[in-house]
Amino acid sequence: MSRERLSVVVTRRLPEIVESRMSELFDARFGGAEGPLDREGLAHAMQAADILVPTLTDRIDAALLAGSGARLKLIANYGAGVDHIDVGAARARGVLVSNTPGVLTDDTADMGIALMLAVLRRMTEGMAKMQAGEWAGWAPDALLGTRLRGKTLGILGMGRIGQAMARRARAFGMEIHYHNRRRLHPGLEHPLAATFHERLDAMVQAADVISVNCPHTPSTFHLLNARRLKLMKPTAIVVNTSRGEVIDENALTRMLRTGELAGAGLDVYERGQGVNPRLRELPNVVLLPHMGSATHEARIEMGEKVILNMQTFADGHRPPDLVLPHML
Ligand code: DGY
Repeated sequence: MSRERLSVVVTRRLPEIVESRMSELFDARFGGAEGPLDREGLAHAMQAADILVPTLTDRIDAALLAGSGARLKLIANYGAGVDHIDVGAARARGVLVSNTPGVLTDDTADMGIALMLAVLRRMTEGMAKMQAGEWAGWAPDALLGTRLRGKTLGILGMGRIGQAMARRARAFGMEIHYHNRRRLHPGLEHPLAATFHERLDAMVQAADVISVNCPHTPSTFHLLNARRLKLMKPTAIVVNTSRGEVIDENALTRMLRTGELAGAGLDVYERGQGVNPRLRELPNVVLLPHMGSATHEARIEMGEKVILNMQTFADGHRPPDLVLPHML
């Protein structure tokens, strides 16, 4: 017996293979080829759809949820982070929220390592010299950077991506320190020879590199504030592939300018695309446009995860990647 297909609105264009599979299974519409839907477009989608598939560029707040249609039952986010969705308000309205954990882990950790290397080994400064045709040849003192081996990596947030960073950094000979809400099980901690810091301040003081790998939630907002950044060694650097809001970007910028911190590698920013213009002027800073998970493979696997969550829901079961307010 044929079943009525659920109506799905996807706010952006996705890889073709993902769109075709979604269209086979659902009455799917895809928006935003030119960019994100505006608020009106989102409100309209949330009126019409059984399932909304947003991305991190769609802010789904309590007001939008209050105006959503009675048929909206699932927000199947195309992405791991859900700080753009008011999960509590969705829950209160009986709307489930799911995400796509796991499939971005390796790519994001690769980018964290790439940023760390790029800053410590001054790769963008070297490249700028080459592009400007200014290379005068090898010199014993040219563009000297810092060796990774023996340095301490302090990981803020030891979830999947934090652990993937730790595994990679161990291969470079780094010492792993971490701060997390909960200490890892010894079976995970021991192979990484990782030192747990219950107090974030202590980890910040010990680290040569801090990698931000925790999600943005009310309790992680500005965890690296001016006071904590001042605890860092002046030779230390910060790498952020998670969310910009975890760092006080203005304080970081000031300290990078005055040389109180040695450098930063950033893929995400406190005000989204509104990057502090002063950051762009600094040679000891590598800036990327939120591309940690930007691989062909990840984008397809993210789509497959969304489809699995939607299909499980359509079959009357709990989506495997359900996000609940108490998890945040
Ligand atoms: C996510 O999925 O939240 C990532 O930040 C996208 O790159």
